[in-house]
Amino acid sequence: EPTAPSTGSKREHWSGQTAFILAAIGSAVGLGNIWRFPGEAYDNGGGAFMIPYLVALITAGIPILFLENAIGHRFRGSAPLAFRRISRRAEGVGWWHVAICFVIGLYYTVIIAWALSYFFFSFDLAWAGDPAGFFNDEFLQLGEVGVGLDFVPGVLIPLAAIWAVAIVVLALGVAHGVEKLNVIGIPLLVATFGVLVVRALMLDGAAQGVEALFTPDFSALTNPDVWIAAYGQVFFSLSLAYGVMLTYASYRERRSNLTGPALVVAFGNSSFSLLAGLGVFATLGFLAAREGVAVADLEGIAGVQLSFVTFPAVIAQMPGGQWFGALFFASLVIAGLTSLISVLQSVSSALQDKFGWTPRRGALTVGLTSATLSMLLFGTTTALYVLDVVDQWANQVGIVVGAVAMIAATLWFGRRGRELARHLTVLSSVKVGRVWLVVVNAVAVLLLYMLVDTTVRLATE
Ligand code: PHE
Repeated sequence: EPTAPSTGSKREHWSGQTAFILAAIGSAVGLGNIWRFPGEAYDNGGGAFMIPYLVALITAGIPILFLENAIGHRFRGSAPLAFRRISRRAEGVGWWHVAICFVIGLYYTVIIAWALSYFFFSFDLAWAGDPAGFFNDEFLQLGEVGVGLDFVPGVLIPLAAIWAVAIVVLALGVAHGVEKLNVIGIPLLVATFGVLVVRALMLDGAAQGVEALFTPDFSALTNPDVWIAAYGQVFFSLSLAYGVMLTYASYRERRSNLTGPALVVAFGNSSFSLLAGLGVFATLGFLAAREGVAVADLEGIAGVQLSFVTFPAVIAQMPGGQWFGALFFASLVIAGLTSLISVLQSVSSALQDKFGWTPRRGALTVGLTSATLSMLLFGTTTALYVLDVVDQWANQVGIVVGAVAMIAATLWFGRRGRELARHLTVLSSVKVGRVWLVVVNAVAVLLLYMLVDTTVRLATE
């Protein structure tokens, strides 16, 4: 029975520290950086948002990232197994994390599939003069049939392709599949996205766009919602409380520097967010200048609308727009895939630990089940509606519950605080001590407040 810490010896492992760092960055850098961060920053004080964002990163993001690294590495297991080793009664906390990953996997794939289609659409600007109509009516076929279970082949085929890739990568295992994808994907992503941002900054109107993003509204700092937005962004962006970072850490060698690489991941992720902020708002500045309006008057500056309506509109008006489009959607696909793999690995790894399965069996079980469900739910015309609701509950309420439960199970009931603090200190380049424990406990209190606030807001919306 896989419960004693000593059974971890046969566990798969990364080929080295760099591979782990790239994989963790791959999980962190995703849609959250490209389309969530810029919009959140803009809506929540612009330049002034950097203050709550940095505070959230330092007081919650990094400490919790340390915590997940410590738990995964010390107890050498996916979330359910690691928590079970802390206390038999805590296994459920891990399954909660896994359940959220499972749900996210269902729709994250859909967005990657859309981006894949749009990558190909870019080359001949398929949406012509009407990106919104094209997206809703022709691509998703929302206008013609309304909400229903009619399958949309244009969505279904790329969706099946993405699932096939995901299953193959997972089945190849940690070192040959997940690691390879990231070692190739992340440098490629930085290159693709870097070219895109440089091009965006050279567009007419780019400066106004960037100015619109970074003009600080300091009055936002007294608004609690702005702070909640900052903490929410940091958690989602660093893939925290999903069991993902915990699982990735469980594949590290026994003698590992835990804190140093975590800091690289955290700052690398934030740098990518800033880069995306520049690129997205430079592009929006160009669009605003074209249309003779202020950036503030533009609609669809984040999320699905940004990527599949607003950007296509810009691309159609830009010299060399085809290439810009192809680079943008390729970036979305790569960033999305590396995040998707991490959530699926969290689920697959949990099943492998629980039932003693091989990576291949885990990959096939998780992949085929999720693929079927995701095609039923999202290959149909109901896609957009389900997506929004699921996304909000899973990501805003579900993970906060998961985060508090993780801290409670490990530090409060499991009483592993000192043990983990020691574990983080022994082999790590950056030493943490008491302060870290105090901070993590304080975060839990803050999260409880967030939880009440968000639940009330979502339930009354
Ligand atoms: N961190 C990813 C992003 O920013 C999303 C994600 C969340 C990935 C949870 C894995 C787990 O897009």
